[in-house]
Amino acid sequence: MKQEHRGKTVLITGASNGFGMEFAKLFAADGFNLVLVARSTERLRQLGYELQDEHQLAHVCIVTADLSKPEAPQEVYDQVKQSGIEVDVLVNNAGAGVYGEFAETDLENELGIMQLNMNTTVHLTKLFLQDMRLRNEGKILNLASVVSFMPSPLMTIYAATKAFILSFSEGLANELKDTNITVTALCPGASNTMFFLRAGAAHTRAANGPLSEPEDVALDGYKALMSGETRIISGLMNKVQVEASNLMPDTAAAANMRRMMEEENTYEE
Ligand SMILES: NC(=O)c1ccc[n+]([C@@H]2O[C@H](COP(=O)([O-])OP(=O)(O)OC[C@H]3O[C@@H](n4cnc5c(N)ncnc54)[C@H](OP(=O)(O)O)[C@@H]3O)[C@@H](O)[C@H]2O)c1
Repeated sequence: MKQEHRGKTVLITGASNGFGMEFAKLFAADGFNLVLVARSTERLRQLGYELQDEHQLAHVCIVTADLSKPEAPQEVYDQVKQSGIEVDVLVNNAGAGVYGEFAETDLENELGIMQLNMNTTVHLTKLFLQDMRLRNEGKILNLASVVSFMPSPLMTIYAATKAFILSFSEGLANELKDTNITVTALCPGASNTMFFLRAGAAHTRAANGPLSEPEDVALDGYKALMSGETRIISGLMNKVQVEASNLMPDTAAAANMRRMMEEENTYEE
């Protein structure tokens, strides 16, 4: 185990699955103590026990929270502080999407997703950043996406939340540029996690095309975070997709993404 991070603590939201679980493995392997946050307490406990045992971590803390609730970030922060834990690295990873035409999707569900993807990230960042500023040290990783760069019809709200996250991260990174606190936005493409299934989008071209593996995405994010990069697009094809969409009019980028968000057998003229 690397000793340089021993005694440091990372808080990871959405650590029960997908990228979050892979982040937990990477941080644990480098000696970080863990604060793991999600709704699935048992999955977090199991992961926490395994990683603590494997890497002889001094401290693993499990926090059960539904981060789509407005009061959750303050409750998570209070619980962490009451346990006497200082968070050196904050990973705002928990997120969700919903598939469908905006005119027909459920508003309450969408408002919860907006709360989870945007407000919770902002709120947790606000709280933990105050402590990082007192120490003039810290690292923050926010989960953006390739759809931060382009509209994504049929997952319109989701893509809009991820555009927000990229803008928020890059603005904040600049504000903090003269400190020892860094902010990194990780932009993955379609990946092999529970995300599409949970969003009701498992039938789409995007979900059935080439997928990145969560361990590769997490490693890209981890390296970028550790070296203080502001933005990382994970995967060569995703970099190409973002570059190509930047060269297109937004209407063409939207049409392209709509095709990705439709079923393989959708009729095309
Ligand atoms: N997979 C992709 O294609 C892709 C691409 C780009 C960006 N992303 C982003 O990557 C991040 C991680 O997604 P993933 O692909 O790893 O998805 P995932 O496998 O579905 O995992 C999502 C994680 O977020 C947690 N979560 C969801 N809703 C929550 C809530 N209300 N309260 C607390 N925790 C909640 C889940 O835990 P519980 O269910 O236990 O609460 C789970 O640990 C998200 O921000 C997503 O938008 C994903």
